Amino acid sequence: MAKYQIAWMPGDGIGNDVMEAAKIVLDSMKFDATYVPCDIGWDLWCKEGNALPERTIKALEGTTCGLFGAITSKPQDEAREELIPELRGKGLVYFSPIVKLRQMFNLHTNMRPCKSYPGNPLSYRGTHLANPPVGGKVSDVAIDQVIFRENTEGMYGGVEFFPLPEAVYTALCANPKMKPWKDKGLENVALSTRIMSKQGCVSICRNAFAFAAKTGRERVTLIEKPNVLRETGGLMTRCFREVAKSYPAIRADEANIDAICMWMFKNPQDYSVLVAENMFGDIVSDLCAGLVGGLGFAPSANLGDNYAVFEPTHGSAPKYAGQYKVNPHAMLLTVKMMFDWLGETDKATRLEAAVARVIREGTVKTYDMGGKASTLDVAKEVARYAG
Ligand code: NAI
Ligand code: MG
Repeated sequence: MAKYQIAWMPGDGIGNDVMEAAKIVLDSMKFDATYVPCDIGWDLWCKEGNALPERTIKALEGTTCGLFGAITSKPQDEAREELIPELRGKGLVYFSPIVKLRQMFNLHTNMRPCKSYPGNPLSYRGTHLANPPVGGKVSDVAIDQVIFRENTEGMYGGVEFFPLPEAVYTALCANPKMKPWKDKGLENVALSTRIMSKQGCVSICRNAFAFAAKTGRERVTLIEKPNVLRETGGLMTRCFREVAKSYPAIRADEANIDAICMWMFKNPQDYSVLVAENMFGDIVSDLCAGLVGGLGFAPSANLGDNYAVFEPTHGSAPKYAGQYKVNPHAMLLTVKMMFDWLGETDKATRLEAAVARVIREGTVKTYDMGGKASTLDVAKEVARYAG
């Protein structure tokens, strides 16, 4: 039996393309694993009314960890229209299977590194800085950030209503600010909630600080908005300050979500570890990805206490599906994160060095980097160096 059982979840669209690229590299590196194919994604919703079937959940339970490509998600109305006729009108409700997976397996921590690899023509140039790098050379503004995004609650917790049930309205009237919505008619009111727990806030802050301490990073920045979101933002801020006390050697600071979008653009090299609630972490991680070349370079790990699912930050990019056009580096760096989590440190180091080398050489590159190579060509080139 192989050393690892890996749940193999390509999902939708380019998820399939980049997972095929990952397989080329995994095989060339002689990774000792059995891959367990698992159904997840839009087709399953359309044909079975469930994007995350029970059989997938069962299969995942028998694996070491999961590797995931991407899924397509659509708003509720469109989702209902795409169901096969036999399933329509049955009151089926679509939910994002990756969000469900994170909650179901308590993958509480979403870790998203964003690193500028020297030679990447898409990396942040910082030519607008007071002291711009000479000639806007790409390697001169070194960005190496890691976002810790709370992954199971907050604004993406999934507790939502439309229309607003009377009972929910009445309960919410414990807060007098709620009253004006009654006049608009509850049938016209939609509600999404931002529910955060002390446990969730403490856990994500602890993981961010523990990572900073372990990797010798000197700064952890909380991204919140406690001046407006007073209760949830306030709770997160208090938890952050409490956890920070155990790490006196690490600089702990706080930024509002709006302000940090500006500061990150102005001085991205100043930030190291960032910690945020679910939605703010999602938003800021695309911003950080943009600084290091776009979604083609942004890997991520959904980490629980005993299980993890690894996925690139990008989605299924339907317009490129099946064309083997997109950049596999995000997926390959995701595999590197899986190696790290499994304790396969040598493989992790080799793979990252191979990705960095292919980027630096700049000869085999996908369209986003100005090249013509296919997703699989890039993977083969990485595989050649990674061994
Ligand atoms: P997306 O990430 O799929 O693509 C946005 C754009 O980014 C693409 O059109 C492409 O220009 C670029 N891009 C993405 N990945 C790339 C890569 N590997 N190489 C080069 N360029 C790349 O986001 P979009 O278009 O907003 O969403 C498409 C679908 O994906 C939606 O159904 C959305 O719900 C879903 N989605 C799923 C996620 C997941 O599986 N975790 C995350 C984000 C979106
Ligand atoms: Mg996102």
